[in-house]
Amino acid sequence: RQPVVEVRMRVNGVMESLDLEPRVSLLDALRERLGLTGTKKGCNQGACGACTVLVDGERINSCLALAVQYDGREITTIEGLGDGERAHPLQSAFVRNDGFQCGYCTSGQICSAIGMLAEHGAGAPSAATEHLSADTIELSDAEIRERMSGNLCRCGAYNGIVGAIREVAAAVPGEIG
Ligand code: FES
Ligand code: FES
Repeated sequence: RQPVVEVRMRVNGVMESLDLEPRVSLLDALRERLGLTGTKKGCNQGACGACTVLVDGERINSCLALAVQYDGREITTIEGLGDGERAHPLQSAFVRNDGFQCGYCTSGQICSAIGMLAEHGAGAPSAATEHLSADTIELSDAEIRERMSGNLCRCGAYNGIVGAIREVAAAVPGEIG
């Protein structure tokens, strides 16, 4: 056993303090220590995007991140974006556009899409991304696919995924967030 290190992170708005071995990934800390199992483990080696979460509004693969690297940071997972009562606009858009089948990739797709839209200033900022700024640009379907290429969907729901993101990217600022 390695010695444990105290890691403090704000996760979905709640300050958490965890004693972790330095080798524990952010993904395992979220899923196994905090019970936030909405974030999925697909490949566990950076190839599928199922584990995507937002760190200070930027998307990362949490399977490749050591939790100790994120001491003091703000983490947002799918649970922090919305729920059945008050869904995030992207969650609603995924439902409207049939953006999933089995749903295994969906949390990662949605977190990744939020990070991607923030990077490019498309759509309106969400609580997780409002501090990021970028010039607003129009995203073509091909660009959306390219910028989302780190998120694989084994069910092949790509048309619905792109449709959902396109819809939110085109939303009038203020209508989403
Ligand atoms: Fe992290 Fe596949 S589980 S990229
Ligand atoms: Fe099944 Fe994407 S909906 S992997």
